[in-house]
Amino acid sequence: MDKNYYITTPIYYPSAEPHMGHAYSSIVADFFARFKRIDGHKVFFLTGTDEHGLKIQRAAENKGVNTLDFCDEISKTFRDLSKTLNLTNTDFIRTTEKRHKLSVQHLWNELKKNDDIYLSKYSGWYSVSDEAFYGEDEIEEIDKKKRAKISKSNVEWVDEESFFFRLSKWEKPLLDFYKKNPDFIAPLSRKNEVISFVESGLKDLSVSRKSFSWGIQVPNERNHIIYVWLDALTNYLSALNYPNTNDKLFKDFWPASIHMIGKDILRFHAVYWPAFLMAAKIELPKKVFGHGWILSGDEKMSKSKGNILKPLEIINEYGLDPLRYYLIKEVSFGNDGNISQERLEDCINSDLANNFGNLCQRVSAFVIKNCKSEIPDKVNFLDKDLELLDNYKNNLNNIREKIDDQDINFYINYIVNSLFAANKYFNDEEPWSKKDDPIRLNTIIYVSLEIIRKICFLLYPIIPSSSLKALKIFGLNEKDIIFSTLENHNYLIAGNKINKIDILFKKIEAK
Ligand code: MSP
Repeated sequence: MDKNYYITTPIYYPSAEPHMGHAYSSIVADFFARFKRIDGHKVFFLTGTDEHGLKIQRAAENKGVNTLDFCDEISKTFRDLSKTLNLTNTDFIRTTEKRHKLSVQHLWNELKKNDDIYLSKYSGWYSVSDEAFYGEDEIEEIDKKKRAKISKSNVEWVDEESFFFRLSKWEKPLLDFYKKNPDFIAPLSRKNEVISFVESGLKDLSVSRKSFSWGIQVPNERNHIIYVWLDALTNYLSALNYPNTNDKLFKDFWPASIHMIGKDILRFHAVYWPAFLMAAKIELPKKVFGHGWILSGDEKMSKSKGNILKPLEIINEYGLDPLRYYLIKEVSFGNDGNISQERLEDCINSDLANNFGNLCQRVSAFVIKNCKSEIPDKVNFLDKDLELLDNYKNNLNNIREKIDDQDINFYINYIVNSLFAANKYFNDEEPWSKKDDPIRLNTIIYVSLEIIRKICFLLYPIIPSSSLKALKIFGLNEKDIIFSTLENHNYLIAGNKINKIDILFKKIEAK
């Protein structure tokens, strides 16, 4: 098994403050990073901000502030959000940093050296909001305005000298690569979209602009700045100290295990990025996963649509872990998901307070009251006990495979079912009526505690603080559960103390 794992989020445009869509990409990436860490991997988890290009330059101009000051301020809100979301990112990269600039210019020189870049003229449509070029067939007219069909964003006509990347040359190698690496693009439906896009023919890509200045300069070409997507995508390399390919970080973590992105930016990651890398003779990432959108009333949540649910407001009202749990559970991963406060409250009440919180409270309180606050000694497992205990051990490899398929739905269902089974077991076995059969009583308590312990481990990637709060029952803390802990089944030692814990989740009362 490959023990190093490199996961990235998209780097966000600091053109406006972060919203729920951004929080979603980051939370799911953090989920995978945390799971891999408790399963014994060394993890590099990268996020950051994408600060160049006309979109940012205009946003700063509209506010009448210096562009870098503008970026500093909004980039900080993204960095702060990473903390608020309890992300375990290893690094936070900004494309305005020197390390990134050097990396992008080096990559440019590699492309140039290999004859993949030439000077010509671009005449065509450009969407500043998407920072993307569109062909005539990708444009429609709505309310007398030209818009990109795919995003509905306004486009403007560009006519200027530009360097081009020979994307057309990479059409066949890309198709061959997709064939040889069937898992490169996920989920499957998106892979098919990408393949038909490439099969329909790739045109060379304009990769420099002359009409504005906010970006990284093309080496030795004072008037050209590098196309913001070529600049932005390179962040995945800069954070590992590219071009120093002998650097330990680069050696340990490149190629990336997975780029986690929204489906809106799949073309950049699954077509342009691998083509740039092939041209520069750099190994390609192992996977690009395009998740769906968070919808608000059936529309993509975005600033321009004014339908934003603010993560900070939700966190202030309900707490972070409920939000993390809700997004991971309710948005079927890979598909779009409509979110609502009502469903969030349901989730808190039924899954978190009733199913998980209550189980932890009931069992720990029972042990404290009736078993001297200790993990019991003599036990005798019946088949029904072993069935429950072994379920997790027997499913561990399956869980790992599902995680490598990004099947979050399986993972969460496994947890919810385990919680139901554990609650049912405790109710049906009635330990309170077994006081004259100490071995049976001990066994029921042992099994219930062990299931709680395992579920807490599995919940850690989703609701880290609450899982750690619950693990106080066993006196376990975060450092006890990092690294290969899913393999270890010997946490419960007879005679060890069981502690009282605070309420994990408060139920939301009907308004
Ligand atoms: N800067 C580029 C990405 C460069 S990566 C080398 C960009 N930034 S963005 O801020 O506009 O959006 C980044 C990502 O935020 C999207 O790809 C997606 O992952 C996430 N989301 C933004 N709005 C979203 C929703 N409404 N729903 C879910 N995620 C969405 O594109």
